[in-house]
Amino acid sequence: MNPPFIDNRFIRRFSLSTPVALAPMALATGGELAAACARAGALALVGGGYGDLEWTQREYSGAVNLLGDDAAALARLGCGFISWKLEEDRSALDWLLDQPHRPAAVMLSFGDPSRFGRILSDQGIPVICQIQTIAQLPAAVEAGASVIVAQGCEAGGHGMNAFEGRSTFTLVPEMADWLARHAPEIILLAAGGIADGRGLAASMMLGADGALIGSRLWASQESMAAASAKHASLAASGDDTARTGIFDILRRKNWPEQFDFRAIRNRLHEKWEQRIDELRTSPEAAIEDYLEGVRTEDYDRAHITVGEAIGLINEILPAEQVIENINREAARLLAGEALDKQPE
Ligand SMILES: Cc1cc2nc3c(=O)[nH]c(=O)nc-3n(C[C@H](O)[C@H](O)[C@H](O)COP(=O)(O)O)c2cc1C
Repeated sequence: MNPPFIDNRFIRRFSLSTPVALAPMALATGGELAAACARAGALALVGGGYGDLEWTQREYSGAVNLLGDDAAALARLGCGFISWKLEEDRSALDWLLDQPHRPAAVMLSFGDPSRFGRILSDQGIPVICQIQTIAQLPAAVEAGASVIVAQGCEAGGHGMNAFEGRSTFTLVPEMADWLARHAPEIILLAAGGIADGRGLAASMMLGADGALIGSRLWASQESMAAASAKHASLAASGDDTARTGIFDILRRKNWPEQFDFRAIRNRLHEKWEQRIDELRTSPEAAIEDYLEGVRTEDYDRAHITVGEAIGLINEILPAEQVIENINREAARLLAGEALDKQPE
């Protein structure tokens, strides 16, 4: 692990060696990926996602075991949950709070953060709130956020729906300005579309203290995504992704209307784009088609969850190397050097 190329409050607060956080991607950010990123010096958030108790127990404990007596890396290990789902079942969070290894931070995304933010703050655990609009800032501050993640709609997975969502490029500086006026102590991370050193350097130039990265680390050797999906995704460009609720209907996920989902726009997605109401009312045949796609790893039908950044990803690398490459490129760009090769 190299020394940090930059020294800022995000790095100091979580004893990092890079201003990068691994996104808590449901079913993808398991113990192995989290441990690799924590070792590489990033803040590593296990993907507690929908709050499945058994999954969270296995993967969080797995990361703790893999990190063994590496106290520095263990101090960078946390977890993330989907807030509206915690309202239905908080058993995974309660379990986490009982663990001898206290999480370095817990990220709350998608829904009102106030109740769980308060529970975490009362226990002295730093709260990270991932939000998508300026209007959500006061509630995140009120919930006790130590870190706010400004998630633009380029991001893979869930985010604000296509109608209300903002792009990372304007959301980050607008949030940075708001926080400078109202809550300057809160750390700001950029998320959505950051996959290389250019993205990390740009995040810092836009006023963030670092970046939360999903898709680029989803496409790493350690992520729990199916190897066939990772390899199939490499052929895609950012143009090939779209945001809708189609895959949530096909997976029978009852997401609040405010949020939708970015993934590769495959053949099954295209088939239903103009008929979403019909799909919502009678989804049975389409669900069968989708499940058959999942069973046979046919990505014309099964979904691949990545954001626009997929167009910047050309290789499935070990997570540590991904982070090293991003750091090296960002360091050079922030020092005013030109990159002499295409970024990875
Ligand atoms: C496969 C995948 C699963 C995700 N699952 C979650 C999740 O469970 N909880 C969450 O807060 N964010 C989730 N996200 C969104 C990330 O937190 C983050 O905002 C996003 O990945 C950033 O954009 P990027 O993919 O362009 O890096 C997911 C993203 C991906 C790609």
